Amino acid sequence: MSIRRFGSPEYRFASIDSTMTEAQRIAEAGAPEGAIVIADTQTAGRGRLGRSWISEPGVGVYFSLILRPAIPAPRLPALTLAVGLGVAQGIESTCRVECDLRWPNDVLLSSKKCAGILVEASSEAGRTRHLLVGVGINVNHATVPSELADIATSARIETGCEYDREELLHHVLRGVERYYGMFLDEGVDAITQAFTRKSSYVLHKRVAVLNGSEETRGTTAGLDPSGGLLLQTDDGSIEPILAGSVRPIESV
Ligand code: BTN
Repeated sequence: MSIRRFGSPEYRFASIDSTMTEAQRIAEAGAPEGAIVIADTQTAGRGRLGRSWISEPGVGVYFSLILRPAIPAPRLPALTLAVGLGVAQGIESTCRVECDLRWPNDVLLSSKKCAGILVEASSEAGRTRHLLVGVGINVNHATVPSELADIATSARIETGCEYDREELLHHVLRGVERYYGMFLDEGVDAITQAFTRKSSYVLHKRVAVLNGSEETRGTTAGLDPSGGLLLQTDDGSIEPILAGSVRPIESV
């Protein structure tokens, strides 16, 4: 299946509240698959699980991409994994570094987060009308806020080099195209296998999963067929994790 090249039409803003809000507006107005909203800075950048996303001007890459896959809602979790694989590939080709992926789609450098992905779906009668794929990448940040220093980083902090953000955007879009194509052509299994090969979080990792106020601890035990994370909890049962945030904990 051929995919239209992502990144066209392109809507650029020096500053915006959130590229997700603008992407939602243009998607509802009929923007095609591949349309992109890019901002140099966001005043109200949104993260997963109701968090905010700090979007400093001049140093990061912040965009929302519109996708229109004709797939039923149960296949969406695997698509979010595919986007993570694509973003990681784009960062690796530009910055010559090795990324890790933390389920579902945090991109890590040296075990710290350098890129986050927010996927918002608009569905009707069980079919996906459009998806908004929001990506924020810490690129040329010389530092991160001190309260995040243990968990967040940038490409520059890790490598000592600054990068051309346009080149990085280009490579990230090509990466997302590639894994979106794999998802559409080869299916969920191809994506879960690729994610399992790439991520240190899928197997044998001691983690805590926070979902709302509930924390579950255990050891990761692979992905389920839909892309959920399997957790062998400390009482020995296997639980599929479909949402929440995962953090590593020390082995006992
Ligand atoms: C996460 O919590 O890891 C997801 C962060 C997603 C941030 C990006 S920046 C571009 C787009 N616009 C937003 O408001 N959020 C996403």
